[in-house]
Amino acid sequence: MNMSEPEKEISDKDLQKLLSLVKMHTGITMEARKRDMLLTRIRPQMRKMSLTSFEQFMDRVQSDPETRQKFIDLATTNETHFFRTETVWTYFTNDFLPNWFKQKPKDSTLRVWSAASSTGAEAYTIAMVCEEFKIKHPAFKYRVFASDISSKVLQEAQNGVYSDKILEEFKTKRPLLHQKYFLVLSPTQGQVNDFIRKQVEFSMHNLHTKAPRKDFYDIVFLRNVMIYFSEPDQELVLKNMQDSLKKDGLLIVGESESLSRLKTNFQYAQPLVYKKSAA
Ligand SMILES: C[S@@+](CC[C@H](N)C(=O)[O-])C[C@H]1O[C@@H](n2cnc3c(N)ncnc32)[C@H](O)[C@@H]1O
Repeated sequence: MNMSEPEKEISDKDLQKLLSLVKMHTGITMEARKRDMLLTRIRPQMRKMSLTSFEQFMDRVQSDPETRQKFIDLATTNETHFFRTETVWTYFTNDFLPNWFKQKPKDSTLRVWSAASSTGAEAYTIAMVCEEFKIKHPAFKYRVFASDISSKVLQEAQNGVYSDKILEEFKTKRPLLHQKYFLVLSPTQGQVNDFIRKQVEFSMHNLHTKAPRKDFYDIVFLRNVMIYFSEPDQELVLKNMQDSLKKDGLLIVGESESLSRLKTNFQYAQPLVYKKSAA
């Protein structure tokens, strides 16, 4: 046996401990059947750290903040797309923005939160749609806030560099926006231009902790992340979203997410859209 190779098998006891560390540090309820996926992600990190046993790795996760952050990066799933779920963008462009602009108090700035932003495709989609709206309505002002628990994806989001499938998909869906808001770095790589990047403020935030800003956002995009949480945890996260939204603020969820079985103060407005109501 190569002494520096991470062990191949994990005991049931260590697996349970690993899953409870995932839960403790990310709030994600991961089932034991995800074992192979998790171990495939963790083993290269153990190799880099010259750790051979899962027990040693878990000790480091608990004692060393840098290893803990790496562990969070590895435990999270970060798939994202520009203009993910067209119906959401049709609603945001044709209903939400014109209504908000018509009803807004004088001089106010629209505040949008992409609350599990991954590498930033959702936040930049919001910024591009807002920018296009601003062309028709020069008095419109907006600010996009974006957060995630993974430092790795936040770094990538801030760089705004995309390649391969995610970029190709965007070019196909919105060729004109690609021409307008992307810098071509190479035939397979592009970067969101400086202007759009400046409209988005990224920060690290764990959705299971209290809302960083109370009564602040007009609309929150909380998409494709609740699926990773248990129902009681979803309710806690939604309570934090309630607190962060302004009165009558809206919440947008992912295609496979619904609040219908949960105890919350959100009211169904239309598919994937919920409205904050009085507590
Ligand atoms: C599948 S991606 C969804 C990205 C984007 N919202 C979308 O719909 O395309 C889920 C993201 O949620 C983040 N995440 C998972 N648990 C989190 C938590 N407790 N707090 C904040 N973000 C979390 C992950 O790091 C990941 O980037």
